[in-house]
Amino acid sequence: MSLEQLAGKTVLVTGAGGLIGSRITAQLRQLGARAISVCKLDAYPPEVYRERFGIDTFNPDFIVGDIAEPGLMNRVITECDYVIHAAALADVAACTRQPLDAIDSNIIGTQHVLDAVAASPRVQRMVFVSSASVYGNGCPRFVEDAAVSPVSVYGNSKVWGEYQTAAMLGKADRSYAIVRYFSVYGEPQIVKENSHSWVVAWFAMRAALGLPLQLNGGGHQIRDLVHVDDIAAGTLHALTSPRAHNKTVNIGTGTGTSIRQVAELVGAHYPDTQLVETPMPPGDPEGGYASVERMEELLDWRPTTTIEEGVARYVAWLRANPSAIPEWMHRAAAA
Ligand SMILES: NC(=O)c1ccc[n+]([C@@H]2O[C@H](COP(=O)([O-])OP(=O)(O)OC[C@H]3O[C@@H](n4cnc5c(N)ncnc54)[C@H](O)[C@@H]3O)[C@@H](O)[C@H]2O)c1
Repeated sequence: MSLEQLAGKTVLVTGAGGLIGSRITAQLRQLGARAISVCKLDAYPPEVYRERFGIDTFNPDFIVGDIAEPGLMNRVITECDYVIHAAALADVAACTRQPLDAIDSNIIGTQHVLDAVAASPRVQRMVFVSSASVYGNGCPRFVEDAAVSPVSVYGNSKVWGEYQTAAMLGKADRSYAIVRYFSVYGEPQIVKENSHSWVVAWFAMRAALGLPLQLNGGGHQIRDLVHVDDIAAGTLHALTSPRAHNKTVNIGTGTGTSIRQVAELVGAHYPDTQLVETPMPPGDPEGGYASVERMEELLDWRPTTTIEEGVARYVAWLRANPSAIPEWMHRAAAA
């Protein structure tokens, strides 16, 4: 089934207010689908949702709510042809600080979504949004069939979501696909306070403020950086591709980029930027990159944005939107 066949279909996107959910929703609407959004809108200040992600809470198809609210998922999902479950406490550091919050959204919330999908014969497929964090540390090229080995509360919660999706929807004979995103970046990504994720946005905002770029442990960690436009497109291919039925698939570029390389790419746009080496924080994984063979075979698709283009796009967007830099970052710069 091609993406065009989503026209006229009703698709629930959970977490649709966030960076990735809002981009998936925009692509669905471009394809002529009816996207129903459910989101708690608690990951950013209200103006970020409104001004950066373009969230319109007056749209009747945007439901501000918690997926764990009893009955909500059942009411919404009965009228849906497809479900993309992207809601999560998506900040690795926040999950470590507040494991019970991670459990509320990533486990209890996911269970509510799965119960409703299992009970709704109208749903043709659910995509569960997982993460490369399920691989933990290990060999630099992550292959889907490798044993999972998460090293964080966040990664643990994604492993549980993957197994529970397979167990519940397999038993209910409902089609699903599990997508493991690698490191997502791209405009209008906004850095979260006390988070150590999202290096392109973090470096670009620091460079724009004239701050040095910190290379933890020298910046040798490897990340597979995937542009949010590509992530959204790959997710829709996983939703529709017949070959993705009940499969787990990486969504990455297949190319590893070191944190130092990211700093150099950002620094090239801000020539006075300094790079400084800082100690390696505990729990910062060495990382790796995606094996993309299965993605190419099952989805008949691959990402198109290179890291050089993506960084240039982010920097251009930040220059046009300097007020996107959060207030707490300005305060840190002044301190
Ligand atoms: N950004 C990345 O690099 C990355 C990498 C791998 C996987 N992912 C996954 O992709 C998905 C989207 O991530 P993102 O980067 O857009 O994060 P985000 O924080 O920008 O958006 C997530 C949204 O989910 C909402 N949410 C959280 N719990 C909820 C609940 N119980 N009910 C309703 N809404 C809830 C939040 O309010 C937020 O708006 C998440 O599942 C995340 O784990 C992201």
